[in-house]
Amino acid sequence: MGKNSIGVFDSGYGGLTVFKSIVAQLPEYDYIYLGDNARTPYGDHSFETVYQYTLECVEWLFSKGCPLVILACNTASAKALRSIQRHVLPKKYPNHRVLGVIRPTAEVIQEYTQTNKVGVLGTRGTINSHSYLMEINKLFPEIEVFQQSCPMWVPLIENNEHLAVGADYFVKKYVDALLARSPEIDCILLACTHYPLLIPKIKALVPGNINLVVQGDIVAKSLTTYLQNHPEIESKLNRGGKRLFYTSGDTTAFNEQASIFFTEAVAAEKMEKMDNLL
Ligand code: DGL
Repeated sequence: MGKNSIGVFDSGYGGLTVFKSIVAQLPEYDYIYLGDNARTPYGDHSFETVYQYTLECVEWLFSKGCPLVILACNTASAKALRSIQRHVLPKKYPNHRVLGVIRPTAEVIQEYTQTNKVGVLGTRGTINSHSYLMEINKLFPEIEVFQQSCPMWVPLIENNEHLAVGADYFVKKYVDALLARSPEIDCILLACTHYPLLIPKIKALVPGNINLVVQGDIVAKSLTTYLQNHPEIESKLNRGGKRLFYTSGDTTAFNEQASIFFTEAVAAEKMEKMDNLL
């Protein structure tokens, strides 16, 4: 079951916002989504911990027969992707591929700014890794990147309090802190898969000339191009349009919360092997 699917991994629910765009652009493939809800959030964990958790989940998806895994999580992409690509795949899984969300987003960021002043909002892990700063500066040295971590946003969203009045204080706090860094910021990248759910509140706070950049469609487009350019991977994939959902946490809770992110009903199964790992 699930053989030759595209694996989509996130620390929990947030990756479902990216998965939504992927299945909209590439509906023909089979997919397995895995959320590590038992150990989420990853945002405040150390490099070592995020690497270890991410690798375990990637290997689990490989064991389910996924030749290609997308890390639909900024924190995992920032803290684990490079090591997995450089050290694990060549030795242990030379025929498997793992892709992240940071590089594809950095590649297109210039399209969203006129002033070359870009704001980045993310978890502490993503921001402190400086991954966006480095990737964007490698590709576009003329762009100045201003970063702000938003540690309270994921808990608000995970508890479904993000659109309540009580969320306003923390939304404003981090948006104001970012905008105070430069009056010329005209593009804000939502560099966390949860943050698209806060768009109504963020939009109400920022001047109308500021572009809010959401990653889902960007990542899906980049995956489309990747599959066109890599027939050796694409030809392995099943085209049955199947979607399986797994969580390391409680399936009932996952199904309830997941529909907020995926905007359609989800019936998840328990990630069986995880019980041994926790
Ligand atoms: N999915 C994570 C990200 O995109 C946010 C949630 C977490 O901290 O685990 O950064």
